[in-house]
Amino acid sequence: MQNNKVIKGFSKLSKESKIEWIAKEYLNGEEKYVDLLKSYWHEDAKVQKIHDEFIENTISNFYIPFGVAPNFLINDKVYCVPMAIEESSVVAAASKNASFWMKRGGFKSKVISTTKIGHVHFAWYGEFAVLKNFISSIKHMFFDESRSVTKNMNERGGGILDIELINRADLEPNYYQLQAKFETCDAMGANFINSLLEKFSKILQRELEKSALSENDKKIIIIMCILSNYTPECIVRCEVNCDVKDLSDDPKINNEEFAKKFQQAIHVANIEPYRATTHNKGIFNGIDAVVIATGNDFRAVEACGHTYASRSGQYKSLTSVEIKNGKFKFWIDLPISVGTVGGLTSLHPMVKFSYKLLGNPNAKNLMEIIAAVGLAQNFGALRSLVTTGIQKGHMKMHLLNILNQVGATKDEVKQIKEYFKDKVVEHSSVINVFNELRKLKSNKI
Ligand code: MEV
Repeated sequence: MQNNKVIKGFSKLSKESKIEWIAKEYLNGEEKYVDLLKSYWHEDAKVQKIHDEFIENTISNFYIPFGVAPNFLINDKVYCVPMAIEESSVVAAASKNASFWMKRGGFKSKVISTTKIGHVHFAWYGEFAVLKNFISSIKHMFFDESRSVTKNMNERGGGILDIELINRADLEPNYYQLQAKFETCDAMGANFINSLLEKFSKILQRELEKSALSENDKKIIIIMCILSNYTPECIVRCEVNCDVKDLSDDPKINNEEFAKKFQQAIHVANIEPYRATTHNKGIFNGIDAVVIATGNDFRAVEACGHTYASRSGQYKSLTSVEIKNGKFKFWIDLPISVGTVGGLTSLHPMVKFSYKLLGNPNAKNLMEIIAAVGLAQNFGALRSLVTTGIQKGHMKMHLLNILNQVGATKDEVKQIKEYFKDKVVEHSSVINVFNELRKLKSNKI
């Protein structure tokens, strides 16, 4: 082991010293890397400080593009949706499909419920009936003793909804849960929920200890207290619909055939997890981008969505379609827990901008917007997949990335884009055209 590459107390070093140490130990002391890291610091030290303090050991910033998808008509209101994402075709697809559905009445989004959930996971060694009686005799204490934590949330209309003992000894001998449900209003609520669960576990331990139960029945092992990111009762449905005959603007597309293939594509995702994974990944292209731009936790949102997609025992599509009497109806049921207060929402300047752009939505509005973007993304992906194929649009957007990689000038980009206007973009053909252009230029000189 190279001991000089191991360090104690790294987090306590200043940012400069951290970079110096990394450069010395990992980068042969090369200044260019130090310069690179520093070139990504924000010029306004106050803004940089905000970013520095989000996590431990910040040494620089990592940019991803922040774009917008205008023309999202959701519940009769038009949004220009902020999206933070690096994948080239996602924002283009969201914008295109937002405009497409705007002409057909837009997206209808409705929050069905907003219940969050968490558990005290514990082991207990007596008869279940004894535990059940005991928990109901102390249940009021969980509510009463949490008042200092729940006061503000209660004032906003939220709080603890219910606490229930769940017997999971069928999964694992002696394994039980105290399952609590919460309404967290405009907050995602992770800290609120986790603080309460830890409180509940202490009350449970204390009351068992004080009780007149047998020594065996007093024994409890608290395994852990944690919210669940699986929130199937915090769910939004978003739908679009139109006549099958209006399903495409493209005269080359036969709408009936298109509708049928679209339905088959959803069916394939429902029966084939290999396809369902990619299908849902495309949905999360849109969802994650908005979740990130609005300062929410995309890992939680993804985890929840994928678990929900597996709720039948098989991983399936998050979207559904119905074609009946010449009508096309396409919808998504999306469990998603997001907040518009707390966390990054009042700290990150770009997140604050996202909220301003969206007209300061509350958490329910944000759920509705995110579901619409996910649905638009899936519609766009499936339309391409069952008609032209995905690469046409994808590679057109990727063209600029390739040209940037080879260092094409503004003028060369313009000419090469023009050249590929009516041609299939392939990596090798772009390189060939670029080389030809350069050769032509150097011959002229
Ligand atoms: C690419 O990021 C997403 C797609 O693969 C989604 C899909 O196949 O449905 C295009």
